[in-house]
Formats: sequence, structure tokens, C-alpha cells
Amino acid sequence: MADRCLAFLAMDAVALLGTGTMGTAIGRRLLATGQRLTVWNRTRARADPLVAAGARATGAAAEAVRDADVVITMLTDATAVREVLGAAAGALRPGAHVVEMSTIGPRATRDLARLLPATVPLVDAPVAGSAGAAEAGRLVVLAGGAPAALDRVAPVLDRLGTVRRCGGPGSGAALKLVLNTALVTGVTAVADALAVAAAAGVDRRTAIEALATGPLSGAVARATTTGAAFAVALAAKDARLALAALGDDAPAPVLRAAASVLAAAPHPHDDIATLIDAPEDPP
Ligand SMILES: NC(=O)c1ccc[n+]([C@@H]2O[C@H](COP(=O)([O-])OP(=O)(O)OC[C@H]3O[C@@H](n4cnc5c(N)ncnc54)[C@H](OP(=O)(O)O)[C@@H]3O)[C@@H](O)[C@H]2O)c1
Repeated sequence: MADRCLAFLAMDAVALLGTGTMGTAIGRRLLATGQRLTVWNRTRARADPLVAAGARATGAAAEAVRDADVVITMLTDATAVREVLGAAAGALRPGAHVVEMSTIGPRATRDLARLLPATVPLVDAPVAGSAGAAEAGRLVVLAGGAPAALDRVAPVLDRLGTVRRCGGPGSGAALKLVLNTALVTGVTAVADALAVAAAAGVDRRTAIEALATGPLSGAVARATTTGAAFAVALAAKDARLALAALGDDAPAPVLRAAASVLAAAPHPHDDIATLIDAPEDPP
């Protein structure tokens, strides 16, 4: 018993900023593995499930990070991360580490490092996998940063799944853009293939089964997943980040087409699996 108390006291104090879909799932996983956790969310009520699961909630981001060894951000986009970390940066302890897990791209990640005190290293650690994978500790964490910083945050990140060390600062954010380029182009390609199936009179289930054994098999698996919660609007943001990384002169016709599909999708708050929904029968 005494040993367990000592181990608990020796454990890193973790602050989690952002308890949306992914933040909540990550928080649940951390709590389930015995992690001490303080949380903050702009909309306070959205932190309640984690409080019920054992986390401490604060009314301000700066208050949440004050005693933290590791600060995780899991927010919508670069603007949100900048706002939240900008407000909390002055309260960070020297030697604390910030782990940025949202998908914001390598450019914004580099800018973020400039917001932090020199004594606070930044690790970029966006994730592959949705909320279910996070709760089950089966995320793939794409980690970029200085080797010492990656070592320092490993005990926390290892709780969330497989940590893939990508290289120096920004390298995790960069690989995440590569993966999500494949994800958004793949899922929109499946939608096109199913539209052709419908037009050519091929039964939808037959088409999905056949596609699942072909080159789009991974995209078919994701597009037919139920219960995931990666909003179309977030995928659209990721397509924009990838296009920004490419620059205006790059043709990238497939990615540009996928970005247009995502921007025009009728249900931006629903999971990307809705992109393959069959059009409704006319009334
Ligand atoms: N969902 C997935 O399956 C998935 C998978 C991999 C990666 N990601 C990435 O993970 C990140 C989070 O995704 P999510 O699905 O968890 O999104 P979400 O459910 O929409 O949550 C977004 C979070 O950001 C907060 N937020 C947004 N703007 C803010 C601002 N200006 N100031 C303070 N807080 C702000 C929200 O606070 P409020 O509650 O107050 O709105 C909420 O806590 C995104 O970058 C996404 O691309 C998502």
C-alpha cells in the first residue's frame, strides 16, 4: 500500500487542455491507467465526464498547468492551440513539457514553440486513431521533438498506444499531414467508387465487399466504420493544412478534389464515414 502511494506521488502530474471528443477519450485512458490528471476546457460542462472519472477541473488553463510536469493540448486547430497556450504559457513551470496532440501541421507547430518559455520543451504528438482507439490505449502517436524531450514524456504517451518517434520538432505533425492526405483522398475515392456502383447497377454491399479486397481496402474499412467521431469539418481542416504545405503551385488534383468535397459536405459535424452515405431516395 505504502509502495503504491509513493509510486503515485512520484508520477508526473498531467494537465489536459481540451476535453472534446479526443481530449475526453485520452483523459479517460490516462485515468484508467492510474494517471493523476487535471483538466481544463473552454466549455466547462464538457469536462464533467472526466471529473466524474476522477480528474480535477480548473476554471482557467493557466491554473491547470501551474503544477503540471506534462501539459497536453488536444484542441480543434492552430488558432485554438495558440490562444490557449498563449494564455497559459506564463504559468508553466520551468522543466514542464508541452505535448501538442491536435492536428495543426508542422508550420504552426514551429510557431508554437516560440510562444513557450525557453525552459519548456515542446513535443508534437498528433495521433492516428479516433476516440475508441484512444480509450482503449490503441492510438498511434506520431511524436516529434528533441530526443531528451521525447524520453521525458514517454511514460505518459506510452499509456495511449504505440508511440512512433518521427524525428525532430515538427516531424510528427508533418507525418500526420501525410496520413490524413491518404485518409481524406481514400475515403472520398471510396465515395466515388460507390457512386459508380450505384450508376452501373452494382449492389452497394457487393461493391463494398469487392472494394475491401482491393487497393482501397484500408479506406473502405475506415469509411464503413461505425462509432468513430472524426468530424468532416476537421478532415476539411487537415486537407487545407496539407494543401498549404504543398503551396499554391503544386497541382495535387486528387487532394484538391477531396478538399472541395469535404468543404461542401452537407453534415460537417458528422464522422467522415458519412461521406459514403448513399444519396437519399427522392420523396
Ligand atoms: N476526432 C477524431 O477522431 C480525431 C482523430 C485524430 C485527430 N484528431 C484531431 O484532434 C483535434 C481535436 O479533435 P476532436 O475530435 O476532439 O474535436 P472536438 O470534439 O471538436 O473538440 C475540440 C476541442 O477544442 C476546443 N476549442 C476549440 N476552439 C477553441 C478555442 N478558441 N479556445 C479554447 N478551446 C477551443 C473545444 O472546446 P469547447 O468544448 O469549448 O468547444 C474542444 O475542447 C483536432 O485537431 C482533430 O483534427 C481528431
